[in-house]
Amino acid sequence: MARQRKSVPEGSKDTKSRNSSSSNGSSIQNTKIAQQQSSIFSYWKQLAFVAVLGVTVVFGVMGYLQTRVNTPFDEKRVVIDSGLKVPEQFWGSYRPGVYFGLKTRDPQSLVTGLMWYFPNRLGPGGDGIRHWCEQGDNLDKYGWLQHDGSNFGIQELQDGPFKLTTSFVKRLGGQNGGEWTARISVDILPKYKSLISKDEQVSLIWYAAMDSETEGFIAPTNSNTDITGIRGETSTLGEFKMTMFPQQGKVDHESFLSTSAPGLNLLKETVIWSLRLAQDNPKVPRKIVLGGQIYPAETENKNPNLVATQITAKLPFTLDVVFESKSVVNRNDKLVGDSYTKALNWHKTRFNQRFEDTFALKHKGFTENQIRFAQAALSNMVGGIGYFYGSSLVQSFYTEEPVRYWKSPLYTAVPSRSFFPRGFLWDEGFHGLLISQWDVDMELDIMGHWFDLINVEGWIPREQILGVEAVAKVPQEFIVQWNTNANPPTFFLTLQYILNKYEQDLTNERLAHLERLYPRLQAWFQWFNTTQKGPLAGSYRWRGRDPLTNRELNPKTLTSGLDDFPRASHPSDLERHIDLYCWMAVAANTLAKLAYILGRDSYSKYQQTAEYLMDNHLMDSLHWSNYSNRYADYGLHTDAVKLVRPKPLPRQQNQNLEMTRKVLKQPEFRLVDSIFGYVNIFPFLLQILEPTSPKLGKILTDIRDPNLMWSNYGLRSLSKTSPLYMAKNTEHDPPYWRGQIWVNINFLATKALWHYGHSEGPYQDQANRLYQELRMNIINNVVEQYEKTGYIWEQYNDKTGEGSGCRPFTGWTALTVVLMSEGFE
Ligand SMILES: *[C@@H]1O[C@H](CO)[C@@H](O)[C@H](O)[C@H]1NC(C)=O
Ligand SMILES: *[C@@H]1O[C@H](CO)[C@@H](O)[C@H](O)[C@H]1NC(C)=O
Repeated sequence: MARQRKSVPEGSKDTKSRNSSSSNGSSIQNTKIAQQQSSIFSYWKQLAFVAVLGVTVVFGVMGYLQTRVNTPFDEKRVVIDSGLKVPEQFWGSYRPGVYFGLKTRDPQSLVTGLMWYFPNRLGPGGDGIRHWCEQGDNLDKYGWLQHDGSNFGIQELQDGPFKLTTSFVKRLGGQNGGEWTARISVDILPKYKSLISKDEQVSLIWYAAMDSETEGFIAPTNSNTDITGIRGETSTLGEFKMTMFPQQGKVDHESFLSTSAPGLNLLKETVIWSLRLAQDNPKVPRKIVLGGQIYPAETENKNPNLVATQITAKLPFTLDVVFESKSVVNRNDKLVGDSYTKALNWHKTRFNQRFEDTFALKHKGFTENQIRFAQAALSNMVGGIGYFYGSSLVQSFYTEEPVRYWKSPLYTAVPSRSFFPRGFLWDEGFHGLLISQWDVDMELDIMGHWFDLINVEGWIPREQILGVEAVAKVPQEFIVQWNTNANPPTFFLTLQYILNKYEQDLTNERLAHLERLYPRLQAWFQWFNTTQKGPLAGSYRWRGRDPLTNRELNPKTLTSGLDDFPRASHPSDLERHIDLYCWMAVAANTLAKLAYILGRDSYSKYQQTAEYLMDNHLMDSLHWSNYSNRYADYGLHTDAVKLVRPKPLPRQQNQNLEMTRKVLKQPEFRLVDSIFGYVNIFPFLLQILEPTSPKLGKILTDIRDPNLMWSNYGLRSLSKTSPLYMAKNTEHDPPYWRGQIWVNINFLATKALWHYGHSEGPYQDQANRLYQELRMNIINNVVEQYEKTGYIWEQYNDKTGEGSGCRPFTGWTALTVVLMSEGFE
């Protein structure tokens, strides 16, 4: 998730990791190759073209291997009902990357949305027009206050001295996925009322747009009496119309745009190109209007794919946009005005009730403010769920260039609406821990979509950049995903939670879903268990580190999710990683449990692997350091590294004076036990450690030490005494997992403390005490920062508690809600 995280690691392209991936290909892969080889072999042998043999086999096998990276896994898909078959989830705020917009769960959905600006404050080039969630817009606050993931949502945004409230309510009916109304209210914030002119206006632009592949049309509805609306017809929506109803305030003027935009990624630009200045008479100021009907010269196509209405009005102003489907025949009342307000209030009441029923925060004594925060955190998690459609660019050792994955939909939450408005594999397992408490079927649907993205090798690309809107947010060089690269299999945590919590409540439908999921989970496990295998029996190693770079102080391990957390200084094939070991133990354990529930024979295989990995003796022999009394990675390591700037040579131009790494002492193979941070406590975090182990006592003591990981705001990622604490990785790469407090790992720590606090053993009381303390430290700080800054953040400063990184970050930081509700099992 991160500035760094989104990049393709250089290591993934280096020859070393390519070689290793080809030599340890999965065993399935090897047998299939062997089968193919032998069948080709006998055929040619019969024909006795022995001389041709070698070449042909090589080409045949290479061709086969090339196609594997983008060949779908060959089993029934998990998601069988989607689109119109699930009308409750058809429409939604599935465009997390825009401030406010609705679309459908349909590959070629119509998209609708809002842009706005304040005409007195509009800058050159359209500066000041809001559309996509951009950090650069510097909104003081935005996000859902309430959103149930299906029926309604209400959001507040603060843009300078102005406050916008956007909401929507859906209503089922008809054959085409139902109807909705969206409401946008704009006012001056109370504290600025005396400072702002009475004539201040807002311009709201509501639009509908279509993908080039959407079947159907959209058009403005022009009449002289009403405000221009939008009508249209598509294959899934049938005939529909959107009508604008100003509710409050004085409309100064309206205008429309009907044109052909080059793509869904350029809607705002298209609007800006079309803006005109108009003047009715010389006495009144000129007004900014949309350009009307415009056929761009370069397009043959005179069917508009972007239709928008702009309404400019005095503040305060409220607009209702009513979407109606022709297939709804007996509509009692229009969802507009008072009838909308009533429906919205009904949903709000119901939401409050369901929220308390689910999380019991009032019951636990949390204050109004804390509950408001928790509602916002949950609402942004489920309100930030998107629906994407497209194909990733992927690459394997066998493909000369990146190739296209198959086109598919993805229904997923996102880490951050501004910075990461797309699916991230390892984040999603954390998201699932909150979503499945709110609506377990929603989470199963999300997991189903992710596992339908698994290829025949058992690999799932870890960052999903699907569709033009998503692609537009990612720099070109970061788009390609390598099939050698893993990401922590956090979905096993979600699954573990679901199986524990809902074991008694697995309806036939849920069981059938898990049945379809099972072979894919097996393939996923198998992929990890073979391609990420370590050098010693039972050990594991993250691929994708760059052994050749001299730019980085400590070559990153993006695949581990913990980007720049320091590992062995000199990446090698002989290293082994304690965090991945623990992830694999959880994976095997969870899969064993699922196999058991489903009554599969393969149960014993996973159970054996789980017992093997959960055996603390094995873990200790691979990762325990008697010297530091801690768990650690193993690898080729030295602490004595620093970044130095090369001396400029005299009289030479264009020298590269970027700092490079200098190694002051030769590295040696050893446990990397001078480092202490998140990675070193994974046996505790993922509850692999026996409750009676003295090593647990040691870890509990260590994490409580303020000189090591403890702070008043949560556990810092790297202890203050570690060599690379808060060190830049290159002169341009600020520290990221080198001290900052991350809520996903703090969540795991708190959950583990809860677990050990509930397990018989000598450390039970200690765990309980720490549990209370850590839990409240995190909750208090995240809530305080939210109230102070208006945002939930990516990470928090270990000295001040201040939010840092990107915002809003309502992905795993929203797990604070689970800490509040203590819904761990
Ligand atoms: C995982 O891999 C190890 C060998 O590295 C093997 O012994 C074990 O059976 C595998 N587990 C499963 C469930 O396939
Ligand atoms: C660490 O100490 C234990 C107990 O004395 C011993 O069994 C183990 O072999 C030691 N490990 C190493 C790597 O020296």
